[in-house]
Amino acid sequence: MHFLPVRPGFFVFLHFFFDQISIEVKRTEIKHALLSEDFEQEIKVMGWVRTKRTSKNVAFIALNDGSVMHDLQLVVDLEKIPEESLALMHTGASVAAFGKLIPSPGSGQRVELAVSSIELLGEANPDEYPLQPKKHSLEFLREKAHLRFRTRTFSAITRLRHAMIFAIHKFFNDRGFYNIHSPIITASDAEGAGEMFQVTTLKLEKLPFDENGEIDYKQDFFGRKANLTVSGQLEAELAALAMSKVYTFGPTFRAENSNTSRHLAEFWMIEPEVAFNDINDNMDLAEEMLKYLISYALENCSDELQFLSKRQQEEEKNKKPEDRSMELIEKLQFVLAHPFERITYTEAIDILRNSNYNKKGKFAYPIEKWGADLQSEHERYLVEKHFKKPVILTDYPREIKAFYMKQNDDGKTVRAMDVLFPGIGEIIGGSQREEVYEKLLQRMEEMHIPLESMWWFLETRKFGTVPHAGYGLGFERLMLFVSGMTNIRDVIPFPRTPLNCEF
Ligand code: 4AD
Ligand code: MG
Repeated sequence: MHFLPVRPGFFVFLHFFFDQISIEVKRTEIKHALLSEDFEQEIKVMGWVRTKRTSKNVAFIALNDGSVMHDLQLVVDLEKIPEESLALMHTGASVAAFGKLIPSPGSGQRVELAVSSIELLGEANPDEYPLQPKKHSLEFLREKAHLRFRTRTFSAITRLRHAMIFAIHKFFNDRGFYNIHSPIITASDAEGAGEMFQVTTLKLEKLPFDENGEIDYKQDFFGRKANLTVSGQLEAELAALAMSKVYTFGPTFRAENSNTSRHLAEFWMIEPEVAFNDINDNMDLAEEMLKYLISYALENCSDELQFLSKRQQEEEKNKKPEDRSMELIEKLQFVLAHPFERITYTEAIDILRNSNYNKKGKFAYPIEKWGADLQSEHERYLVEKHFKKPVILTDYPREIKAFYMKQNDDGKTVRAMDVLFPGIGEIIGGSQREEVYEKLLQRMEEMHIPLESMWWFLETRKFGTVPHAGYGLGFERLMLFVSGMTNIRDVIPFPRTPLNCEF
């Protein structure tokens, strides 16, 4: 065995090597730090300062890294670390801190970090940083959408939103559904409603015209008029008529100029489509899915829900008791515990027509006759005042529903279903589909659906057609319900609404 002579330079190298190791200690996420039992090892945490308070010999910094609802309390002994080195660590600044976890003597947290060294990563000048630790209105935060993830409310919503996305895929995967990516750019109008965003590469200042003086879309990118999709349903139907059980989960776009707290111009929709299912199977699937998602949130997001519940109570504390919402967690458990009421549109119209609300003129749109489209005030009356639980309405007049819905034998109604939720109104819209070629063709003609661009949809009814059904869940409407938030702009990171496309 040979011993290499150890030269002085080697010690310098070793020293340098260990220095590097301490710098390269891996970051511990605050989520893991808060649960850790290891009080021996030095750990490194990194995040953003929520608050800092300094007393005579010690400073406390509440640090959050978004991994979890709670902050980690950093305890800085000012006799070891000079106060000046913390001077720039204001709310919003980013820092890295080393130290050992210790059981916390204070109430409010199980462990805290006894800081051995701390480094400023990026400052946040308190004269400029807009999110100082005080209450901000949701309207104000919408104007700061680039920073609002840093607030407790939006980080809670972001984690909850992620959990719901994951749960949706899990729900369908566990039941043997296949996920389909339906196209975002399409040449067809799935809902026949006409409120679409056009996609074009034509120069708007220099449009080409044909011999009839019409815009010549042959010269456009796709050689035809194209739009952003309003729904992935039609393509999901094509897939279901081979794969049996499919679902889409994608962005959808509607150019309706409705500035309400429940409408977005860009929103996410979950659209299952199932071959061999009828309207009753469709209702069962919708109810099972909604209950699954709610129980998933209760089981996996309890910190977020508790926080959001307190937030809601705080927000509503100046309201009269009878105007306050049911406590959030209680509301979610209530929905789980009760079967949804299932009634027909015709029954709903009778209830609404005979209601005190209607008689006393409390509806902005009084219900006079069968055939009226239901407004959200009517939907909410049925859910919140009459049945006091979620309601599934079926068999709507065919005049107010889309062309693809299965026609009932009465010649007046279609096998539509809308799921109505308290505080939301319509959360799901769906139907059994018309699978009979002649009937579908006739309805498309009556409703002036351009047949030449929908030949492929019709062909599925020519070749091996089967009964099938599906629905669309508005993801942000689900998020409104589960979070207890009241404006849809606050449950999506970057809302797109009329005149609003900043971030
Ligand atoms: O009722 P809708 O228009 O149904 C469809 O698009 C069908 N193609 C679905 C299907 O059968 N596969 O929309 C479905 C749901 C609504 O119930 C609502 O929750 C949501 O999508 N939604 C919106 N959410 C936010 N902003 C908007 N502008 C929305 N429009 C519909
Ligand atoms: Mg609808």
